[in-house]
Amino acid sequence: MCGIVGYIGNEDIKEILVDGLKELEYRGYDSAGIAVLQDNEIHSFKAVGKLQNLVEKTKDFTVENFGMGIGHTRWATHGKPTEINAHPHLGEFSYVVHNGIIENYQELKKELSQSGVAFLSQTDTEVIVHLFEKNYEKLKDSFKAFEATVEKLEGAYAVLLITKVDPQKIFFAKNGSPMIVGNDGKGDIFFGSSDAALIGKANEVIYLDDGDYGYTSSKEGIVLLSDKKPKALNKKALTGDKISAQKGGFRFFMEKEIYEQSEVLVDTIMGRVLDEKIYFEELDENFFDGIEEIKICACGTSYNSGLACSYLFERQAKIKTSVEIASEFRYKEPLLDPKSLFVVISQSGETADTLEALKMARSAGLKTLAICNVDNSSIVRIADHTLLTRAGIEKGVASTKAFATQVMVMWMLSLYIAQHKKSMSKENILSEIEAIRHIPNAVVVENRLHEKIKRLSKRYLHGHGFFFIGRDLFYPLALEGALKLKEISYLHAEGYPAGEMKHGPIALADSELFTIALMPKTLHYDKVKSNVEELSARDATILAISPERFELADDYVHTYHSDHPMSEFFEMMVVTQLLALEVSIRLGNDVDMPRNLAKSVTVE
Ligand code: M6R
Repeated sequence: MCGIVGYIGNEDIKEILVDGLKELEYRGYDSAGIAVLQDNEIHSFKAVGKLQNLVEKTKDFTVENFGMGIGHTRWATHGKPTEINAHPHLGEFSYVVHNGIIENYQELKKELSQSGVAFLSQTDTEVIVHLFEKNYEKLKDSFKAFEATVEKLEGAYAVLLITKVDPQKIFFAKNGSPMIVGNDGKGDIFFGSSDAALIGKANEVIYLDDGDYGYTSSKEGIVLLSDKKPKALNKKALTGDKISAQKGGFRFFMEKEIYEQSEVLVDTIMGRVLDEKIYFEELDENFFDGIEEIKICACGTSYNSGLACSYLFERQAKIKTSVEIASEFRYKEPLLDPKSLFVVISQSGETADTLEALKMARSAGLKTLAICNVDNSSIVRIADHTLLTRAGIEKGVASTKAFATQVMVMWMLSLYIAQHKKSMSKENILSEIEAIRHIPNAVVVENRLHEKIKRLSKRYLHGHGFFFIGRDLFYPLALEGALKLKEISYLHAEGYPAGEMKHGPIALADSELFTIALMPKTLHYDKVKSNVEELSARDATILAISPERFELADDYVHTYHSDHPMSEFFEMMVVTQLLALEVSIRLGNDVDMPRNLAKSVTVE
């Protein structure tokens, strides 16, 4: 949930740390801090709120020549977002940053307190630095002390530690939370909790595995161990450019990412949609042999994409499919059948609930498949197979292009299974392929549309709630539209099956209840229309999104790509994303970093 950076070398340490934190700020932003060790002195700075506050605080601090530093941007789990609780946490002579949760911290804290340690913060992290120093007092060897510390930790962590007793090294450990170490070939070493922090700095990186720990120094480079034994460095080239991770003229990353959807969807389908069939080089010919059903598990937006595609798996691939919210799945003691394919969907590949569900499925002997946007993420490394969504780095906390590409991958997957099971005729597969090819056009943001939604948005800033309604595939899209709006506007919004309104929620209908009606022409138009008429008769304010003009609507967004349900789906997706964006902008909210949220939820 938090972001971590580290650096050893001769360049401007402060700049490198702060620059890396900027790339990770989307992971958590309620406080930030850095600690720099140089000439046996540690300088530490912390600030509550966004990273800019830390930048202000450190503006007169300059560092030259060799040194090292660690930095952190936080999303609070234990203890309020205060300066005391911000990382780095200090002991007598050492500093630590940590991402994850130390599950046995209460027990460790008790032992340390009994031996005279005074704790300053309410965090679980602080035990690490005190435990290290206690171990150092006993062992008089910094690495052995660090190893003994890591041995005692339970839970998820990515840890960096620096200490005055060994001022040439950064100690690191990883278990359950992501951590990457890289170098630039000139002796400088960089750490990050995501490769976004290392792009443009390191040219080769090592994605650490759970249980890895060690230290780095400019003399020895990266010294990596696992299970107390030296481990070979599995170096990978770091590709990707920083520019694409910047806003590129848009007001917010979310806006840029909505506009990018057409382009990234081309990447998603490239090499996978052939003239007459769907092809995934990642899957063997016999991948689906013995699979009798599909279980999808995910959180948030990824759950919504899974739910949408469950309709396609059943309708097209004729395979029984169920969808589970990962945080519920983990504790329901699910009955898992080894004949099921367990599909996890995650933009980040680091969502703790999804990751744990995946581990459960694996230990129950199920074949697992990850639909993920981040290669080498924890989920990708654990799943048997992965289909990457190829959306590129998504920075806005509110997911947009990740959702679009997830749906696209699963649509293709449903056809791939249909080919395998021969559950669709060749002609039908061909017409689906044709429809897929058309989608990058359907999601192009026309100026006309964006201007219309900008104007419309001013009418939707109040009221006592929003209902996004749809049927079939458009019900999960309604869920997603509502999730987008509530995440960044802080207005109450629900997604509901249109046909279900009369079973309760219609009681809320009045002119202050805003209904966003998804009314595709190609799927149950008349049914949805009568559901919307029922709401209109109760004076609900209706915004209809449809290719058919709907007379009872107060507002209307005309859609144009109505030759296939999925074209309608993708076009309406863009409309709901733009609506959330423009409402949020009018309300003066921080679109990319909405309150209380973080991009990657690596805690339960
Ligand atoms: O990285 P993941 O796709 O696993 O994340 C799951 C959810 O946390 C995520 O989709 C969340 O709901 C987004 N903020 C939605 O915009």
